Amino acid sequence: MRTAQTLQRVVAQTRPELGRAPQLHECRQGKGDRIPIPEIAGILEIRPHTSTVLGVLCAWNSFQRKGNFMSFDGKVAIVTGGASGIGEATAKLLAARGARVLVADVSDAAGARVVSDIESSGGSARYLHVDVSSRDDARKMVHHAIETWGDLHLAANVAGIGQTPSRLHDMAESTWDLIMNIDLKGMWHCMAAEIDYFLSRDGGAIVNVASGAGMRATVGQPAYGIAKAGVIQMTRQGALEYAKDGIRVNSVAPGLIDTPAVKALPDDVRALYAAGQPGGRMGEPLEIAQTIAWLLSDEASFVSGLNHLTDGGWFQMSPA
Ligand SMILES: NC(=O)c1ccc[n+]([C@@H]2O[C@H](COP(=O)([O-])OP(=O)(O)OC[C@H]3O[C@@H](n4cnc5c(N)ncnc54)[C@H](O)[C@@H]3O)[C@@H](O)[C@H]2O)c1
Repeated sequence: MRTAQTLQRVVAQTRPELGRAPQLHECRQGKGDRIPIPEIAGILEIRPHTSTVLGVLCAWNSFQRKGNFMSFDGKVAIVTGGASGIGEATAKLLAARGARVLVADVSDAAGARVVSDIESSGGSARYLHVDVSSRDDARKMVHHAIETWGDLHLAANVAGIGQTPSRLHDMAESTWDLIMNIDLKGMWHCMAAEIDYFLSRDGGAIVNVASGAGMRATVGQPAYGIAKAGVIQMTRQGALEYAKDGIRVNSVAPGLIDTPAVKALPDDVRALYAAGQPGGRMGEPLEIAQTIAWLLSDEASFVSGLNHLTDGGWFQMSPA
């Protein structure tokens, strides 16, 4: 409130020709008596507390632009694992909010269906067969997005697989290799290719999908949990190394989400899963997509290195 009053006084004293100084709630884009931000910057340059006042104004303007809140208009995004579950929901949400989306997956028919769904809703998308365990495929993926749309701004690295349940000591080596190649090395391949391009432009934003299983031990999933813990650490590494280059890197750690693999389980098993959650239900893919979209958006412009749990409170439960 003091900030608003300071602004009122400064505007009234220094630029009476602008007329009545706006109330803070009136500072919005579009019609009305909004004073353009550059004008305000000009006025306030000679006053103390410039950055505070301007910061509040920018945040308020952004909040008021409800139509553009978390808008991806003009942005190009890659979504790995975009053919199903969390990746599909992410691809559709980003496209619905204006992004042109490259759906990258190994599941070609499902990927084509997602693209067709997006296009029939008026969005723009392409599908590319990409196996994230191949470094070459990851590079081709980035090139394809740039060739198609001329730029790349955002990447959601969602592709991942679960593991055949086993204990740590007698897990098959092939299980370890498969999970590490896709869930950990695959994430590195994608991040490396994306960062390589982001370094050549004015930055970009990356969100990696980890898991609550990467934050605490879970029975039967040693390789998966270790790989996802690695994804969280790789995210932190990326955030630190590339902050000066305008690149933000965050991860999302979903709890139990009702994706196609879970939906295919017998009803009684699904009910048991749901009952084990603090809120009595599993999450929906869209609820993870929303966290991913926020972290990719300009509204998270100062967020980097965060591992964002989105789990309905599961992590707060005492392990059984
Ligand atoms: N569903 C959950 O409860 C849950 C919880 C925590 C984390 N996650 C993570 O979320 C991500 C998405 O999981 P989901 O539940 O939506 O699964 P999903 O099986 O519905 O989707 C995963 C997608 O990744 C693709 N994929 C698999 N291997 C690939 C590869 N080598 N290259 C490219 N694409 C590949 C699949 O074809 C599929 O389309 C995964 O990383 C998973 O580990 C899921």
